[in-house]
Amino acid sequence: MKKIRWGIVGPGEIANKFAKAIKNVKEASLVAVASRSEDKGKAFAEKYDIEKVFCGYEAMAESDAVDAVYIATPHPFHKPCAELFLNFGKHVLCEKPICVNAKEAEALSICAGKNNVFLMEAMWTRFIPSIIKVQEIVRSGVIGEVRGIDASFCYASSIEEEAKLFQNDMAGGSLLDVGVYGLHFVSLFLGNNPISVSAEAIVEDGCDCITNVLLRYERGAIASVSSATKLQKPADAYIYGTKGHIYLPHFYGAQEFFVRCGEEETKITAPSLGDGFEEEIIEACSCIEHGKLESKMLPHAESIAMLRLMDNIREKIGVKYPFD
Ligand SMILES: NC(=O)c1ccc[n+]([C@@H]2O[C@H](COP(=O)([O-])OP(=O)(O)OC[C@H]3O[C@@H](n4cnc5c(N)ncnc54)[C@H](OP(=O)(O)O)[C@@H]3O)[C@@H](O)[C@H]2O)c1
Repeated sequence: MKKIRWGIVGPGEIANKFAKAIKNVKEASLVAVASRSEDKGKAFAEKYDIEKVFCGYEAMAESDAVDAVYIATPHPFHKPCAELFLNFGKHVLCEKPICVNAKEAEALSICAGKNNVFLMEAMWTRFIPSIIKVQEIVRSGVIGEVRGIDASFCYASSIEEEAKLFQNDMAGGSLLDVGVYGLHFVSLFLGNNPISVSAEAIVEDGCDCITNVLLRYERGAIASVSSATKLQKPADAYIYGTKGHIYLPHFYGAQEFFVRCGEEETKITAPSLGDGFEEEIIEACSCIEHGKLESKMLPHAESIAMLRLMDNIREKIGVKYPFD
């Protein structure tokens, strides 16, 4: 198999994790990085032994040095960056949330289709072995019918530590930053179309810093998803069934989980290949290799549904962005 040649767009915080992970993926090679600053691009390229540095994103989009790109810019720039590369025929793996609202994500999906190229949201949690294993166990019926899920991803930060989280014009807030993990997780087990959505949040300067969401589903199940940028709480998830439950510590990157039915508890270990990004890169490479425009594991419609849900939640808690 020919290796897919990847480029990184926006070498910031999270791009480091991708650059490390891709070295463990035999189907891929990291050949380029594009930065708005030449010095920054060069420093990143040196750190990860990357052949080509592009000053400016357009220069990489126009070049034929890469087949696919990983977009690691802050949320509001996902859509314009992804569009730029899609329009030059490059496949795109774009950080979460794929866009800031459903309207943008729908447009991006159309753009990928028109250009006949692959597009996927980099929601790595969906691809790691533990989450795949939990889905198998739930499907097996061991815990009975799923009637409840609690998923929480909260942490305490500050404007001094990470300004963009607290800036409305950067699509700041906890829901889009980490609440998105809980919503994707719930959707794997209960679907993406709750019949009722309610939410409470603490909103400061137009950004939600503590958010609790309740989702009710037609099948008779309720999920609760919490996210925060100003609160410490374990990032755990529970799936409750009619016969037992599953507990996932650090659910978004879980390496192990616990299945409890009555008095009996089983610990199941399902480690990731590395830090957790390898599996999503493998899936993207496999789709590109086979000429698929989207992944069955995370189709465009699912990313759009998650944003539609977040649009709905934001309307309820009064968080509006300039791009809405
Ligand atoms: N999957 C995960 O586990 C995970 C974890 C953290 C974050 N994320 C996601 O990854 C994305 C990036 O987060 P991050 O914390 O890595 O971002 P960041 O470090 O703040 O920014 C990443 C890079 O984006 C580029 N950029 C382009 N336009 C920009 C602008 N107007 N302002 C600031 N930077 C701009 C900059 O690169 P150049 O100047 O070099 O071009 C910057 O270094 C977010 O959408 C976030 O949700 C995902």
